Amino acid sequence: MKSDLFSFIKTIFSFIRPFWKKFFIGLTCAVLTSLITGFSTWAIKPVFNFVFVEKHYEYFKFVPPFLIIIFTLLGFFSLLQAYFMKAVSTGVVNLVRLELFKKCLFLPVLKLSKQTTGQTVSRVINDTAQIEPILGNTFQTIFKESLTVLSLLIVAFLQKWDLTLIAFSTVPIIIFGAKILGFKTRRARKLAQNATGELTHKMHEILGGIKEIKLSGSYEKIIELFSKELDKFYKWSLKITKYREGSKSLVDAVTGLGGALVIGYGGYLIIREALSPGAFLSILTAILLIFNPMRKLAKAYTGLKEAQGAWTRIQEVLQLEEEKGGNLKAFPPKKGFLFKNVYFKYSEELSWVLKDINLFIPANKVIALVGPSGSGKTTLVSLLPRFYDPQQGKIYLDNTLLKDFDILSLRSLFGMVLQEPFLFNLSIKENLIMAKPEATEEEIIKACKLAKAHEFIEKLPKGYDTVLGEEGLSLSGGQKQRLALARVFLKKPPVIILDEATSQLDTITEQAIQEALDNFKGSYTIIIIAHRLSTVNKADRIFVLDKGQIVAEGTHQELLERCSLYKNLYLTFQKT
Ligand SMILES: Nc1ncnc2c1ncn2[C@@H]1O[C@H](COP(=O)(O)OP(=O)(O)OP(=O)(O)O)[C@@H](O)[C@H]1O
Ligand SMILES: [Mg+2]
Repeated sequence: MKSDLFSFIKTIFSFIRPFWKKFFIGLTCAVLTSLITGFSTWAIKPVFNFVFVEKHYEYFKFVPPFLIIIFTLLGFFSLLQAYFMKAVSTGVVNLVRLELFKKCLFLPVLKLSKQTTGQTVSRVINDTAQIEPILGNTFQTIFKESLTVLSLLIVAFLQKWDLTLIAFSTVPIIIFGAKILGFKTRRARKLAQNATGELTHKMHEILGGIKEIKLSGSYEKIIELFSKELDKFYKWSLKITKYREGSKSLVDAVTGLGGALVIGYGGYLIIREALSPGAFLSILTAILLIFNPMRKLAKAYTGLKEAQGAWTRIQEVLQLEEEKGGNLKAFPPKKGFLFKNVYFKYSEELSWVLKDINLFIPANKVIALVGPSGSGKTTLVSLLPRFYDPQQGKIYLDNTLLKDFDILSLRSLFGMVLQEPFLFNLSIKENLIMAKPEATEEEIIKACKLAKAHEFIEKLPKGYDTVLGEEGLSLSGGQKQRLALARVFLKKPPVIILDEATSQLDTITEQAIQEALDNFKGSYTIIIIAHRLSTVNKADRIFVLDKGQIVAEGTHQELLERCSLYKNLYLTFQKT
């Protein structure tokens, strides 16, 4: 437990290191503020005696300016202290936030979606905020108050050690109590943080479905759902206060007990004339003075424990294993991709989404994946850029396992238009060149023309510089698809995967894009997923997927004759 706390403090200090100059200035200013306060308090007596008692009235004129200087200095140093300490604490918090965010980018897709998004966001924002106070105040408090306690202890011990010992016989109770309460606070804090994460997530999720809610009119049900999460948060927040205030009350009660013991035993000693009333008063003052800094220390300890709880949660994310590949640089396929007895499921508890997939995707051909909704088409193509790895079986590019390629270079082979294209709230141009940062203006326009996007982009308020999401600007599903296609046409990757890439386009536009795609035939590996079989019937090879298994493969004509599922799919779509 102790070593845990110790290693926690050590880690926090390793984050402070980049800010050590600011930290040092802040700490120096804190010490200066204490020194000035101490000095001015101490100076009252000699100054008062010198000027008024010993009647050196000619020096009186120095007193008001002296006061002004002291208070100005005090203000100045406490401002500097607050400023630099905040600079350190916020700096460290931001550093941790950045680390967490970076970590999220490099986690396997599955890990990231398992931690619900709200929880992850909560860790990045709330848990990191939890460690800020300890950087701002707690370390200072521990530093300063420990010194105070130590010096007062020495004074008391030198006066009468046995009386002091009796007074402090209660301290173990405080330590023990603070430890237990600290542990409980930490646990409650963790659960409260979980509840906050859940709250963020729920709110996000619910408001995402606002149209459905409005249509169904089921406001009460939704409000109830949200209230439940609020209740959880309420419960744990109250518990935190209970334990935190509990440790304060414990100190109060024990202070009373300590006072009673000292007065009892001290009074007894005075009556027996074993102690002078003056010495007794001095010890009593020292002891009573000690309890306030001790209370602050106890509070600092609880704060430290709370921060440690938050840190544990941050650590859980930081320690997750990042996705990793091999050292080989990936190359455009010469033979193709080979799936060998591949099995995949999204999580342990769920059943197989892909079962015993054996499949060869020849290089530089157009291949199509068809099959009913939910049969596993999107999942299958997601295995190629290693968004997911199969639990069983192997996937090769030419003769090398996908896992042996450097992951970045492997992914650079692919251009994908996903079922629901995602665009950033950046300008259209920035969205496009994400795939190819060095692209020229002409290249961009050419790609957009191919994807039939140029026309609508030109009509936007600022053309290619229009920022998506700004002033409520949002694109239609088909427009997004065309931008995503343009992104692929711009990058011209060796492997192009189109997952329902033209599903939201009208037939004329779709036809035009088909023709554009024809330019890529022969020198690019193209994988098309489509429900409209008119899009796939020209493919060199078609695979039919059903319930996670490849049930047939061949050309359009062959499948029409051989595969009843394909024939049914084809006939149904022809009717529509
Ligand atoms: N992220 C996920 N987590 C858990 N299960 C998932 C996830 N994505 C898909 N599935 C499940 O995997 C199965 C296959 O889904 P997939 O998206 O691959 O189907 P699909 O063939 O692309 O369907 P569609 O034609 O509707 O796009 C489905 O049963 C689905 O419920
Ligand atoms: Mg799909």
